[in-house]
Amino acid sequence: MTPTFLTLDDIADLEERYQLATYKKMPLVAERGVGVWLYSSDGQKYLDLYGGHAVAGTGHSHPHVVAAIQAQAEKLLFYSNLVYSEARARAAEKLISVAPPELTKAFFCNSGTEANENAMRMARMATGRGNVITFSGGFHGRTADAISATFLGKYRELGRPNVPGHLKAEFGNIESVRALADSTVAAIMLEPIQSMAGVRTAEPQFFLALRELCDERGIVLIYDEVQTGVGRTGDWFFANSKAGSHVVPDIITLAKALGSGIPVGACLVTEKISASIKENDLGTTFGGGMIAMAAVSATIEAIENDGMLENVRAVENYLRQSLKEIPPVVSLRGCGFLLGLEFHDKAAPIHKALLDRKIITGTSSDPNVLRLLPPLCLKTSDIDLFVVKLKEAVAA
Ligand SMILES: Cc1ncc(COP(=O)(O)O)c(C=O)c1O
Repeated sequence: MTPTFLTLDDIADLEERYQLATYKKMPLVAERGVGVWLYSSDGQKYLDLYGGHAVAGTGHSHPHVVAAIQAQAEKLLFYSNLVYSEARARAAEKLISVAPPELTKAFFCNSGTEANENAMRMARMATGRGNVITFSGGFHGRTADAISATFLGKYRELGRPNVPGHLKAEFGNIESVRALADSTVAAIMLEPIQSMAGVRTAEPQFFLALRELCDERGIVLIYDEVQTGVGRTGDWFFANSKAGSHVVPDIITLAKALGSGIPVGACLVTEKISASIKENDLGTTFGGGMIAMAAVSATIEAIENDGMLENVRAVENYLRQSLKEIPPVVSLRGCGFLLGLEFHDKAAPIHKALLDRKIITGTSSDPNVLRLLPPLCLKTSDIDLFVVKLKEAVAA
C-alpha cells in the first residue's frame, strides 16, 4: 500500500516500479517552482539553469500564465478544431504578431516531434517531392519521420526501420547540401543552433546560402525552432535574427517554451505553404485545445510584459564577462539563453558537482559541453551565484 507521506525514496521506488526506466533522473522530487527556482519536496531550493528541458521559458509557474490557465479551466477545458474558440483565435493572432512578417498562419499540435512531422508533410504536399535533407548533429524528435531526420548519435538507429528519403548533409557546410539538393528534395530542415549536439552554431552566411539554394531549387526551408524559438536567443525566433543573417524560412516549428509547461507545438508557415494545404490534410485531436491556447497567449504576454527578450540579451552579456574568470571554460557556445560551456575535460562531473551545490544544468551529446537553458527571467544576481558555485564545482 502507498503510504500517505511519501519520501524521496518512496517516490523513486514507485516511479521505478511502475514507469519505464527511460530517463536517468536527478535525485530530487520537484514539488513547486517560482521563476528560476525549483523547490524539492525536502525543502531544498535549486537554481534551475535547465528549465525542465528548455520548457520553463517564462520561469516556473509564472503568475500571468497560471492565472490564464486557471481562468480558461473554469470556462472550458477542451473542444477540438470542429468549433471556433476565442482562446485559439487570440493565441494564433498573438503568435503570428511576433513572428517574421512572411509567416502568416499557424498550425497547432502538441509537441516538437509532431510539429516537425507536420512541417515535413507540408513540404512534401507543397512540392510534390519526397526527400528531406537534414544535418549531422541535428535532433528533431522521436516519432518515425522526425527520428529518421535525426542524425545525432544513436537516435536514428532507435527508430529503425527508418522512413525512407532522409538525406544527411554536414551542418555549416553549404557544399554538402548543394550536392544533395536535387529535384527530389522537398525540404531542408535544421536546428539553426544544434542544442543536443553540444550547442553547435554555423556562420551567418550558411543561413543566407541555404535560403538562396532553396529559392533556386524550389525547396522548402524549415527551421526547427523547438529550442531556439519563443525568446530563447534574445529574439522571438532565430528566424529573422541578426545571428541568422535575417533569413526567414518557409516554416518554423515550435514547442517546449511555447506553453510554459502546458504541452503545445506549432508550425508557422508562409502564405505559399498554406495555399497548398486543404481541409483534412493535417489534423490532431488535441492541437489548438483551449488550455494550451490560453497558455500560448499568456506566455507571449508574459515575455512582453516583463521585457524578457531585453533581459536575455543583457544577462547573456553579463554571463559572458563573468565566465572569463573561469579558465577551465574554454569556450561559450550559442547565443541568448541557449548556451554551451565547453570544458577542457568531461562536463559530467561538473554537472554533478553543481547539482550537489543546488544548481541544475544540462549535459549534451558532446561530453565536454555543459548546457544552460535557463528561464528568460534569469537575473545577474543569479549569474553571480552560478559563478561562485561553478568555481567550487571546477575545484572539486
Ligand atoms: C530541436 C528539437 N526538435 C524537436 C524536439 C522534439 O520535441 P518533443 O520532445 O516535444 O517531441 C526536441 C526535443 O528535445 C528538440 O530539442
